[in-house]
Amino acid sequence: MCGIVGYAGPASTGRSSVLEGGAGPDSGGEALAAVLEGLRRLEYRGYDSAGVALVTGGEDGSERSLSTTKRAGRLARLVEALDAEPLPASSTAIGHTRWATHGGPTDANAHPHTSADGRLAVIHNGIIENYATLKADLQAEGVEFASQTDTEVTAHLLGRAAAAALAEVGADGGPADAGEALAEAMRRVCRELEGAFTLLAVHVDAPGVVVGARRNSPLVVGLGEGANYLGSDVAAFIGRTRSALELGQDQVVRITADDVVVTTFDGAPVTPRAFSVDWDAAAAEKGGYDWYMDKEIHEQPKAVADTLLGRTDASGALVLDELRMDTAVLRRTDKIIVIACGTSAYAGHVAKYAVEHWCRIPVEVELASEFRYRDPVLTERTLVVAISQSGESMDVVMAVRHAREQGAKVLAICNTQGSTIPREADAALYTHAGPEVAVASTKAFLAQITACYLLGLFLAQLRGNMFADEVRTVLRQLHAMPEAVQTVLDRTEEVRELARELVDAKSVLFLGRHVGFPVALEGALKLKELAYLHAEGFAAGELKHGPIALVEEGQPVFVIVPSPDSRDSLHAKVVSNAQEVRARGARTIVIAEDGDDAVLGSADLVIRVPRVPTLMAPLVTVVPLQVFAMEVASAKGLDVDQPRNLAKSVTVE
Ligand code: F6R
Repeated sequence: MCGIVGYAGPASTGRSSVLEGGAGPDSGGEALAAVLEGLRRLEYRGYDSAGVALVTGGEDGSERSLSTTKRAGRLARLVEALDAEPLPASSTAIGHTRWATHGGPTDANAHPHTSADGRLAVIHNGIIENYATLKADLQAEGVEFASQTDTEVTAHLLGRAAAAALAEVGADGGPADAGEALAEAMRRVCRELEGAFTLLAVHVDAPGVVVGARRNSPLVVGLGEGANYLGSDVAAFIGRTRSALELGQDQVVRITADDVVVTTFDGAPVTPRAFSVDWDAAAAEKGGYDWYMDKEIHEQPKAVADTLLGRTDASGALVLDELRMDTAVLRRTDKIIVIACGTSAYAGHVAKYAVEHWCRIPVEVELASEFRYRDPVLTERTLVVAISQSGESMDVVMAVRHAREQGAKVLAICNTQGSTIPREADAALYTHAGPEVAVASTKAFLAQITACYLLGLFLAQLRGNMFADEVRTVLRQLHAMPEAVQTVLDRTEEVRELARELVDAKSVLFLGRHVGFPVALEGALKLKELAYLHAEGFAAGELKHGPIALVEEGQPVFVIVPSPDSRDSLHAKVVSNAQEVRARGARTIVIAEDGDDAVLGSADLVIRVPRVPTLMAPLVTVVPLQVFAMEVASAKGLDVDQPRNLAKSVTVE
């Protein structure tokens, strides 16, 4: 939720803005260019309003001031406004793209918010839980509020605290300079705040300085040459630097063009962990596709291949050194609980089938938002696997904390370096899907399944549940998957046509069994979030226990048919399920393996996927469902990458 960017560096570097058709270097100089570039890359975090604040003036004795522009609507509206009224060049800027919580998406509620004296601007991600009390106190003192946001209290509190700290600069025991005064003000205010927040602030009297703070909400630092950056995640600055610092919980950071200083909220110095970002900027561009989602769907073979890369030794055995978890912990694990949300939870659901089969350890899959409220039974022998693309979903963060407090070990499967979940977990296994910009998750899902499978095989290898050659066989199967996924991608025309035909459908059902069940749930989720269509996924065996009543003439039903090689006549049972709904008037769209002719009698349309081992099937069967949802949304004229009401990184509970 909400994208946050900060820049401190030269006012002009001669490089031009990457923003096509607007807000070029004539407006706001390098600071604005850097911040808008970051916001464009972070727009997936929230897109109902956007704004920037720059500290401008001061050269040749001109008066310094704060220049703020903000607009409700997409980032493009802000860029139009900046084009119409260019801002002076600046070396200090902050920018924000909002996902509204307190107060609707209006110009007034857009960030930045300014202090009463107009000298400080602040942007915020998260929720200030005690804002109502703070606001009432401020109002009682005569402070007037210009917005309905919780954020505005921080602008007023910081404005006052900064004025006081700036007045103490140079005094005995006072801050050493204006930048330190602003940092001190931030620390004072943060100690008063409750809830989740990332805050960035600039002040007219602290030119060249951006101060940030974080509690339960993400913030990373980008280290450039002669310029430094702050961002909600590394995507904010990957066009400029890949060198980054992780910030911990309850820390304040002050950046200038050539310095980064981090402290706790109490002022104790902190040495942050440095890391190098392995995403490149091109990966976060559309690369000729109409939608990021389309591009990301097409990147799935690479996402799987990259997640497998470097995880076997010369003998072909699986090595997961990066886990850095005591193998004794993994050996004694007697239960695994997967915690995740949305698509990531479905990846965990798929993994359950494989991990239980390979390791003989019971696996529970729990929605992270429900986990801690049911008082789960956790012991030091429980391994909690937290799956998250962003590494920031607050529901998962809170579940991770709960699990650790209860003595369980937590292993994070995550796609985003420098994010909170792997940092707070006991161990981390990264997926290498690259930046996922479209709000709907696609390539991360395939990469998560791949990483979960690696973990499952590693456990089986370590605990002796599988022989080395069995592990190698499955690894070979996994290594063959990028090609199989590519085959599906090469055949999407039929599903695209179907989507255009079904554009007016009122409801679509998805049926699957075994690993096909979470795929059915994922297919339905994609369609809901992108095409705003009623869609439900069911375990095909549950059909007769109720959902079949939904079926009426013409009802589109996707049926994910398992391989004819599956155990326990699963294939025949799902084919029967397809027949049952078809007999009641459903239009069945059957996803089946090449050569599986047994489905022909129960299908109105067969979408073919290559023949792969049963446990690998989700990696291919989900792809037509992703394409279908994208294409229905596109045919309806909807914004595929930024569906209504959603944000990619859900950093509030
Ligand atoms: C659906 C989708 C969401 C996310 C969920 C978890 O397309 O993107 O359901 O999967 O919000 O997000 P992460 O994986 O970032 O924790």
